[in-house]
Amino acid sequence: MNRFDGVKVLLTGAASGIGRATARRLAAEGAAIYAVDVSEQGLAETAAQAAAQTNAPGAITTRVADVTDEPAVIAAAADAADTLGGIDVLVNVAGVHKTTPIETLTVDDLNRLFSVNLVGTALFCREALKFLPDGTGVIVNTASLAATQGNPYMTAYAASKGAVLAFSLSLAAELTGRRVRVVPISPGAVDTPLTRAPDMFPDGLDVGYFTKIRSYFGAADPEQIASAIAFAASSDAAYFTGADLRVDGGAHT
Ligand SMILES: NC(=O)c1ccc[n+]([C@@H]2O[C@H](COP(=O)([O-])OP(=O)(O)OC[C@H]3O[C@@H](n4cnc5c(N)ncnc54)[C@H](O)[C@@H]3O)[C@@H](O)[C@H]2O)c1
Repeated sequence: MNRFDGVKVLLTGAASGIGRATARRLAAEGAAIYAVDVSEQGLAETAAQAAAQTNAPGAITTRVADVTDEPAVIAAAADAADTLGGIDVLVNVAGVHKTTPIETLTVDDLNRLFSVNLVGTALFCREALKFLPDGTGVIVNTASLAATQGNPYMTAYAASKGAVLAFSLSLAAELTGRRVRVVPISPGAVDTPLTRAPDMFPDGLDVGYFTKIRSYFGAADPEQIASAIAFAASSDAAYFTGADLRVDGGAHT
């Protein structure tokens, strides 16, 4: 079953982690993908991995762009529509993280987190909506479990993801007339370069807090989030819009 045969997908954050796994999953199901990221090398690796999959009839076009750069986003969305012959699905995955106690939180931290996580997502939604078809268009935005669950030392990140969630719920309501679905997805902990970064848990923090919010299932593999994104973006989720799709291994219970 290739749920994405002939489906044109614009995907951000495709050079690593969840975005790369999503590119591979959607390509394996037949999608034509326009993949955006700031990392040229990472994008090339994602495209190579997708092409190496034995059952990957979908093609990947890559474009280096910063999701916070408005002219670059406008140009990327227009080129995606031109290259693919339209856009059926937008998946916003690009994001950044910062763990810091409130005492050392800076305005730069706040601006960076909101700029990439919220503004980048919002800009791609606005631009892709110029091309998404009424009736079948889909947007999947990556929020986080941190949007609805307290996460120590992640106040700014959590707030930026709460903003992505709120933005997505209101956009879903606004687009019901066009019958374009908007699905925010909220992963719990996922094993990716983001969570493996050496500064994920700066020295001196009480990491014991984190054991209380983790899933007994452990961290997810990026492929487990990609499969949920594929569901949300597919016609299997045709009645699914404006509701947070939590993929957290029970960490929220
Ligand atoms: N890993 C987790 O535990 C986890 C949990 C919940 C939500 N998320 C969210 O999932 C998404 C993907 O995270 P990941 O774990 O795969 O991280 P990752 O660091 O592996 O991948 C993030 C990708 O976004 C790209 N990116 C960052 N800033 C960008 C910008 N300004 N313009 C374009 N691309 C940019 C990076 O280059 C990278 O390829 C993020 O939005 C993250 O907040 C991750």
